[in-house]
Amino acid sequence: MPIFIACHSTGCLVVVIRKESALSSVESQQRVLSGMRPTGKLHLGHYHGVLKNWVQLQHDYDCFFFVADWHALTTHYEDPHIIENSVWDMVIDWLAAGINPGRATLFIQSRVPEHAELHLLLSMMTPLGWLERVPTYKDQQEKLKEKDLATYGFLGYPLLQSADILMYRAGLVPVGADQVSHVELTREVARRFNHLYGKEPGFEQQAEAAIAKMGKKNAKLYRNLRRSYLEQGDAEALDTARALIKEQQNISLGDRERLFGYIEGGGKVILPEPQPLLTPASKMPGLDGQKMSKSYGNTIGLREAPASVDQKIRTMQTDPARVRLTDPGDPAKCPVWQLHEVYSDDSTKDYVQKGCRSAGIGCLDCKKPLIEAILAEQKPIHERAQHYENNPELVRSIIAEGCENARDAAKGTLDEVRKVMGLSYL
Ligand code: TRP
Ligand code: SF4
Repeated sequence: MPIFIACHSTGCLVVVIRKESALSSVESQQRVLSGMRPTGKLHLGHYHGVLKNWVQLQHDYDCFFFVADWHALTTHYEDPHIIENSVWDMVIDWLAAGINPGRATLFIQSRVPEHAELHLLLSMMTPLGWLERVPTYKDQQEKLKEKDLATYGFLGYPLLQSADILMYRAGLVPVGADQVSHVELTREVARRFNHLYGKEPGFEQQAEAAIAKMGKKNAKLYRNLRRSYLEQGDAEALDTARALIKEQQNISLGDRERLFGYIEGGGKVILPEPQPLLTPASKMPGLDGQKMSKSYGNTIGLREAPASVDQKIRTMQTDPARVRLTDPGDPAKCPVWQLHEVYSDDSTKDYVQKGCRSAGIGCLDCKKPLIEAILAEQKPIHERAQHYENNPELVRSIIAEGCENARDAAKGTLDEVRKVMGLSYL
């Protein structure tokens, strides 16, 4: 059912289409989930690296995007106000970048406490070694030496991420290369979970009873084929066994499904295994030519004021060989050129290359089209952000609606998880 959210001051209408929450494993291929930690204002590196990709994905998939505030606490538990101050700004950044709340579900992790319950339940069956071996565990501890990350929460954080993903039965998880190991962990946890709990009570006995119904000869054949497949991975045996089941006339539909599942050894798939959707590494350079990153202090904010963008580009370092206007330069040695690579078309690049090498243009001439291109990119972002900043209640209702939608989807998964883990006795 579509939900209409009216924004009174502007008269604009946001339509949120409610999505079906329970997914089969085939439909899960169409669901995308990703999260972002609220630890400060977003910059153009986030825009080119992540947000533009999300904006594309929302056209083709059923997307869930969330503010990973609990994840932020795993590393920022000593200064939580950073998180508090970043949450709403980040949501506005997403909306300003073009995320459409009518297409994607936007929510805040801690407003869907089901994530904590699934994390806890998964923790029961996750071997400690799996978490200790996640590469980011030691890496981050080394990198963030000033923080004490020898905590329970930090060790468990990739499993919290697994809970985030498995909760929505997401098939695809857009992440950067550093997070692929977390999706791998999620796959292993899902596999182990399905192996432990995916069998309905008495599944094996029911499957055995169904085999008996095929008659002596066929039963023997089925057992041999199953053994060949399970022990030697014989794919031909799998096909033959399937064909054998199809031929059977006097078995029920339920038994047929059991016989199909039983050849492969398993039962039901409760938590489908997700795939990482690798976000191409962002080549977005910062003001000093290094990768744009808050920790290098070389960023341009996603919603940086135009005057400040102008100022930052004007004062950017250029090729040190160009002391005077008459000194020729080399774009390969200049961080300004790297930004041209992102923003400029061939003719501008040609103008820069020729003008720089021949000392035919000054560095400010070179920077001018760049400033214009960045401001042009930011213009619609500023406009959308302004709209949401003027209407904070609209932002709140988008998130309230998203959280409700997320909770509905989460409940479906958790009910099933509780049931198979023996917790549905109330
Ligand atoms: N751990 C991710 C990061 O640090 C954020 C995140 C949390 C996430 N849960 C997720 C990403 C689930 C993808 C899917 O960037
Ligand atoms: Fe850099 Fe452009 Fe100046 Fe050449 S002209 S040094 S590319 S800013």
